[in-house]
Amino acid sequence: MAKKTNEGAILHPETGMPEDERDITLRPKRMSEFIGQKMMRKNLSDYIAAAKERGESLDHIFLSGPPGLGKTTLAHIVAVEMGVDFIETSAPALDKPKDLVGILTNLKAKSVFFIDEIHRLKPAIEEMLYIAMEDYALDWVIGQGPAARTMRLPIRPFTLAGATTRAGMVSSPLISRFGITCRLSLYESADIKAIIMRSAAIMDIAIEDAAAEKLACCSRYTPRITNRLLRRMRDFAQVKKQASVTLDVVKEGLERLEIDSLGLEKLDREILRVIIERYGGGPVGAETLAISVGEASDTLEDFYEPFLIQAGLIQRTPRGRTVTAAAYAHLGIKPGEACGANIGLFF
Ligand SMILES: Nc1ncnc2c1ncn2[C@@H]1O[C@H](COP(=O)(O)OP(=O)(O)OP(=O)(O)O)[C@@H](O)[C@H]1O
Ligand SMILES: [Mg+2]
Repeated sequence: MAKKTNEGAILHPETGMPEDERDITLRPKRMSEFIGQKMMRKNLSDYIAAAKERGESLDHIFLSGPPGLGKTTLAHIVAVEMGVDFIETSAPALDKPKDLVGILTNLKAKSVFFIDEIHRLKPAIEEMLYIAMEDYALDWVIGQGPAARTMRLPIRPFTLAGATTRAGMVSSPLISRFGITCRLSLYESADIKAIIMRSAAIMDIAIEDAAAEKLACCSRYTPRITNRLLRRMRDFAQVKKQASVTLDVVKEGLERLEIDSLGLEKLDREILRVIIERYGGGPVGAETLAISVGEASDTLEDFYEPFLIQAGLIQRTPRGRTVTAAAYAHLGIKPGEACGANIGLFF
């Protein structure tokens, strides 16, 4: 996992801000409150209804997608809708097999057992999970050396909900044991706007329609960022003694946070400029680029590049990163004019 050096960056959903955790009131608790991801929501609702009708536990669920899109939220919702217990941990917290045995043997029937960052499971724990998921049993080794023997402990049927932002790092034997796969994708602007309206109502914030629309465009299609930006706009409006969050408050607020119309912040723009102005638009290797912008290369890859790629501004090629025509247009630079002309900005 990359070291999070961008602690102050408001637009980065991975950056844990204490108030995000405090604001659990904003987290949808029922499926009917969960906005967007329509098809996935509909399918999941049917799987839950069917499992309930049969009186069985829900099949194991694999939740993947970028940070802040609602994986943890969905896992909670599944437990609420199933009317079962919710037990939560994360893969790095499961240090020894006995940690897992302790949890699984104490689970009530049909409980949802949520493991966050499931790509970080230790091999011994992962192997133990295979049997637990398939046979609702645990193989427990008793004794040592030649006297050691394996005892099979039955456990109650349960639902494993595994979440990850790095689906590619989860082994295929583990993925294949999940019966339900939910891949969360970035939200549509209309859904983000609906999330803003819902959060504003919960926080008792009056917000103009145009202001919500503007915010929605700058939220990187991510609910966690949306909620975070909304809270900042509420602060700006309050200090200005405005009764509601108006379009002007949002425009000025975004300017103060140096967030542009695409939702890019300063370092995002700097990455694009460096590729254009120092490397003629690319390709440039990730390491070189990271040094040029003064960030760790894994921070760049995990936290900055995904949205720039999603927004169609950069491309990852085997030879390195290149910017697209859209990046030139966004920065108002004509291809061919960049090198030399603006180079003074960076030296
Ligand atoms: N579909 C949604 N509708 C409304 N609000 C949402 C939705 N999805 C997420 N949120 C809001 O975004 C916040 C972040 O969601 P959540 O913590 O579930 O993301 P995550 O995918 O688990 O992120 P991470 O990978 O960082 O753990 C939630 O607290 C909730 O307020
Ligand atoms: Mg989560």
